Amino acid sequence: MRILGIETSCDDTAIALVETKDNQRTSFRILSNAIASQISIHQQYGGVFPMLAKREHQKNLPLVLEQVFKEHNFDPARPAIDAIALTYGPGLSPCLWAGITFAQELAKKWNLPVIPVDHIEAHLLIGLMRQSNDFLQFPPDTIFPSVALIVSGGHSQIVLMKERGKYEIIGETRDDAAGEAFDKTARILGLPYPGGPSIAKQALIPTNRTFAITLPRPMMRSKDFDFSFSGLKTAVLYDYQARTPEERESQEYIREMSSEIQQAIVDVLVSKTLKAVEQFQAKSVILGGGVAANTALRERFREKLSEGVQLLAPLPQLSTDNGAMIAIAGYFRYIKGEYPQDASTIEAKPNLRISQVC
Ligand code: KG4
Ligand code: ZN
Repeated sequence: MRILGIETSCDDTAIALVETKDNQRTSFRILSNAIASQISIHQQYGGVFPMLAKREHQKNLPLVLEQVFKEHNFDPARPAIDAIALTYGPGLSPCLWAGITFAQELAKKWNLPVIPVDHIEAHLLIGLMRQSNDFLQFPPDTIFPSVALIVSGGHSQIVLMKERGKYEIIGETRDDAAGEAFDKTARILGLPYPGGPSIAKQALIPTNRTFAITLPRPMMRSKDFDFSFSGLKTAVLYDYQARTPEERESQEYIREMSSEIQQAIVDVLVSKTLKAVEQFQAKSVILGGGVAANTALRERFREKLSEGVQLLAPLPQLSTDNGAMIAIAGYFRYIKGEYPQDASTIEAKPNLRISQVC
């Protein structure tokens, strides 16, 4: 079966074509994974403006689709596709609608079903897939119970997955998402959007001057599994403002601050996740979302996870938003018949929560 996956929940217009091979453990082959990024547009503003992003999606969707079709010599009138999977939430409402309208038009033209997909579930599922040759394969059920840390520009959640398809949000951010904390602090330091990769790059460079920066680790010791990152942003701003222009514009300051921001975020994410692993006797940790591409975060998990607890992390290029994860999540909904008969009834759910979809 071949599924087209469409993703427009934030600032990436992504379309992928995925083929499934049904055996005991479902396998997927990514045939195309095309993305039109809006980074250069949003870089000017240091963040994503929904209406601007929507216009870009509307412009890019036909172009990205054309690219996928060209890769496979598809006849646009009758492409060899069996279903369309599409993100209907959570995300920015105008952006979600751009994808929904586009998918509805395609479904009508080709007479195909449209499967609405939860963006967080998609990050989680691509996070747990194992790579074997050219295939992504669902791992054996020995990974359950599993604790998933889904951290992106829009979301920071800890999701308990006791078994396949059963989700419970046990912790989440009370304000900014982890990726947002990277993006906002990078902006203070004058580093380019998206902030995560910019800060990670700066943090890698050693410095020989020190400013003795110490940032808070918000809510790290609280008893729940929730996060709060807005205080971190404020602390960075205060430290920045307290420095002389010569100090704060120096490369050494930017590097040390980047390293401290990354460490503070990693400390909080890892400590909360480990606490959940212990409490629920988890057999694995699943990482997903753009921040899961962060090398320091992955390394820390590898160091800290006790033997017998597996770390399941997506390939870095599949951590950030992509259409392949939507197609894969769509497949699991499709085989359970969880999609509407009439695609025109699909609506955007900007605040969709993963526990609602199962
Ligand atoms: O999942 P994603 O592509 O989009 C959303 O659903 O939000 O995540 C984008 C976020 C941005 O905030 C970006 O700064 C962050 O992921 N990010 C990273 C890295 N790569 C992307 N954060 C830390 N380290 C990275 N290497
Ligand atoms: Zn995402």
